[in-house]
Amino acid sequence: MIKILFIGDIVGLIGCRTVKVMIPKLKEKYDGLDLIIANAENSARGNGVSKESAEFLFGCGCNVLTGGNHSFRNFSIYKEFKENNLILRPLNFSKNCPGRGFVVFETKKGFVAIINLIGQAYLEAATSAFDEMKNLLFKIKTKNIFIDFHAEATGEKAALANFLDGKVSAVVGTHTHVQTNDARILNKGTGFLTDVGMVGPYDSVLGVFPNLVIRRITTKMPVRFMVPEEGKCVFNAVYFEVNEITGLCEKIETINEIV
Ligand SMILES: [Fe+2]
Ligand SMILES: [Fe+2]
Repeated sequence: MIKILFIGDIVGLIGCRTVKVMIPKLKEKYDGLDLIIANAENSARGNGVSKESAEFLFGCGCNVLTGGNHSFRNFSIYKEFKENNLILRPLNFSKNCPGRGFVVFETKKGFVAIINLIGQAYLEAATSAFDEMKNLLFKIKTKNIFIDFHAEATGEKAALANFLDGKVSAVVGTHTHVQTNDARILNKGTGFLTDVGMVGPYDSVLGVFPNLVIRRITTKMPVRFMVPEEGKCVFNAVYFEVNEITGLCEKIETINEIV
């Protein structure tokens, strides 16, 4: 079995620090992990992913970082996107954007393709994730395929998972920062969770100081969102076991802790 841990949207310094604390514990709990993937789109101070936050997360043991609608917030990452193929941004952004949307990673139990996609509901997808996958599946040689579908709408995420059921190992949703309670293996063997959630401050609105979000909503004025750096932190992730012969998911388990 290939043991895969996927960590939900990591928010700011507090999220990065919590990942550093939790990875060794989870490696012990799951008796080693073959692959750790994390969504890093909010990991930099002030949002986005930066060279520094990416380096920190790789140093914690993450193997591949995915992104989303905030992937391009930091200019420092543009060069990294070109040079480091383990930092992904959604595949179905414009082909003119820096970076790439999938990578094939070699674990000690075989190759795993990791694909990052973005939804069309309320987000800036350039093309359909469904069409992209139809084209890409023919080109991928490994059966072990892991997808981070960064999307707002639950229905869009469930639809893509069912569209790919039996063709990929797992589809996880990210972006909402709230973990859903529906982890399951679909009928043809694809592991699915609508949203993994976040690693970010517990006393917050999706990772941001509540008063700032309330001000933004009640006044409609621009407000600079800031992330609490101290206090309790939510740690949301999901663990998969994938059969390396069939490429199908045999176990899925969510992780939801307050640290
Ligand atoms: Fe996010
Ligand atoms: Fe997002």
